[in-house]
Amino acid sequence: MIIEPRMRGFICLTAHPDGCAQNVKNQIEYVKSKGAINGPKKVLVIGASTGFGLASRIAAAYGSGASTIGVFFEKAPSEGKTASPGWYNTAAFEKEAHAAGLYAKSINGDAFSKEIKEKTIELIKADLGQVDLVIYSLASPVRKHPDTEVLHRSTLKPIGGTYTNKTVDFHTGNVSEISIEQATEEDIANTVAVMGGEDWSMWIDALKAENLLAEGATTVAYSYIGPALTEPVYRKGTIGRAKDDLEATAFKIADKLKDIDGKAYVSVNKALVTQASSAIPVIPLYISLLYKVMKAEGVHEGTIEQIQRLYADRLYTGNAVPVDEKGRIRIDDWEMREDIQTKVAKLWEEATTETLPAIGDLPGYRADFLSLFGFEIDKVDYQKDAQEVVEIEGLV
Ligand code: NAI
Ligand code: NA
Repeated sequence: MIIEPRMRGFICLTAHPDGCAQNVKNQIEYVKSKGAINGPKKVLVIGASTGFGLASRIAAAYGSGASTIGVFFEKAPSEGKTASPGWYNTAAFEKEAHAAGLYAKSINGDAFSKEIKEKTIELIKADLGQVDLVIYSLASPVRKHPDTEVLHRSTLKPIGGTYTNKTVDFHTGNVSEISIEQATEEDIANTVAVMGGEDWSMWIDALKAENLLAEGATTVAYSYIGPALTEPVYRKGTIGRAKDDLEATAFKIADKLKDIDGKAYVSVNKALVTQASSAIPVIPLYISLLYKVMKAEGVHEGTIEQIQRLYADRLYTGNAVPVDEKGRIRIDDWEMREDIQTKVAKLWEEATTETLPAIGDLPGYRADFLSLFGFEIDKVDYQKDAQEVVEIEGLV
């Protein structure tokens, strides 16, 4: 079957198995090229199939030979439909990892549920005994609360007033003004319930209760800050409240892990094109300007470069982990460099439909977006029938 991208709004309905596999191979090669890290050995990644979570899994497996268990929520292929990208990514990762002699198993289901936590616990008990790193990298629009069964929906809204700014439709390049209505208290509470720290905490409690965290174990969740210009819709909006909660949760978890000398961190990562970030108004325009500036400065990174640096230069240097005044690891340091942000802010003022092709990196944005779904990847022959990938080797 020949598979082509089929767009609907901000999502792509199809994914290419060979393109996704090539993406995974490229990430593996990148990690190998950077050399060995004295890093984690037994790793649980929650949200392991795409984006930062996938990179965290690959960097652990190929940076320090780690055994990995990945948890995610992805769709298998079905009649007339391709699988979701994370399905193909994981199938490719498992195959590569097993061929390289690395332990890798995966669990597909709702990480917010008690059932999936129990399944994961059973798998760790049976196969690994304990884990020494737990990466929490979920991005989800909804969460069914395991105790109340209430379905919470997150929103991306400003707080305390309507927010108006520029945005771009990255398919057409059209720059326009967008106004987003302010959030209600309920919107805020729901977003915190989905993307805040409660579920991370529940995972760690569940693992610790079963003595599955090794002495000195580390857990890391991912956050974002970004510049003043996106603050109303991001850091000071509903999602920002959830990130505040996530960051506060790191301290609570760290307290609970003291008896095993465990550590809990939030790592603030760089803005990147993922399925989640493409849906946030204003952010795609910011990212297209940011990419242009960071590429020109030679400091652009993707998820794998970010996470390789997180392990090699922050978490596993053998010295104390460097953190900011709020206790957070910063791998958004290059994005937030003053010279970079000054340039982006200036370009922001100039950005219109007419100027953007010259001052922004829309082609880079689009290429990254399509590559999330396995399209327009070098070395992939899209004229050839795509391989069928109905199974993931290590799926439990
Ligand atoms: P992503 O959409 O690429 O990955 C999300 C992962 O969560 C996937 O593996 C997916 O299968 C899994 N997932 C979603 N719902 C699930 C559920 N109910 N049960 C089990 N698995 C589920 O997202 P991305 O961008 O990698 O985000 C990960 C974290 O990084 C988020 O906390 C995000 O806020 C943060 N981050 C993202 C940045 C960006 O620019 N994309 C920047 C900084 C932080
Ligand atoms: Na992820």
